[in-house]
Amino acid sequence: MRTIAAFLLSFVASTLAYTVLSPNHSNGWTNQGSQNLTWQRLSTDPLNFTVILDNQDVPDFEKEVLAIFVDGTTGFTQLDPYYYYEGWPTGSGFRVKLVKAGQYLDAVLAESEDFNIIDSTRITDPNL
Ligand SMILES: *[C@@H]1O[C@H](CO)[C@@H](O)[C@H](O)[C@H]1NC(C)=O
Ligand SMILES: *[C@@H]1O[C@H](CO)[C@@H](O)[C@H](O)[C@H]1NC(C)=O
Ligand SMILES: *[C@@H]1O[C@H](CO)[C@@H](O)[C@H](O)[C@H]1NC(C)=O
Repeated sequence: MRTIAAFLLSFVASTLAYTVLSPNHSNGWTNQGSQNLTWQRLSTDPLNFTVILDNQDVPDFEKEVLAIFVDGTTGFTQLDPYYYYEGWPTGSGFRVKLVKAGQYLDAVLAESEDFNIIDSTRITDPNL
């Protein structure tokens, strides 16, 4: 039992080592252009990862891959909505997930807090 528990603990620890710093609950994204992703990495983490966008609030939300083989050592990357014909989706309940590069999208290394993507044209232009 003890061995199994220790194994499970080390497994949990190693899968949770990457930490997404932003976007986060208080600092989300806008739908205007490139958006920033920042994270922390431990030396034991994989060198690279795939970034996907998910939404916890929308049951049939289609996860989208935002970037592949991101260099995990840099701690920062900018993401564009390549796969969204009309730009970023907007709303609440979004989550960015870092998943193991080259594997199924459910091999999650880390995920962000829930965050909003706001339509910033509505903020900057009071006529909209
Ligand atoms: C949330 O993101 C902002 C902007 O990048 C950052 O300054 C802040 O430290 C982050 N908050 C947490 C809890 O990581
Ligand atoms: C994203 O990062 C770039 C480069 O550091 C910075 O100039 C820009 O202000 C950042 N955008 C946001 C919304 O924080
Ligand atoms: C991604 O990381 C793995 C090891 O974690 C390495 O074998 C592979 O070469 C890296 N690929 C790229 C494109 O950086």
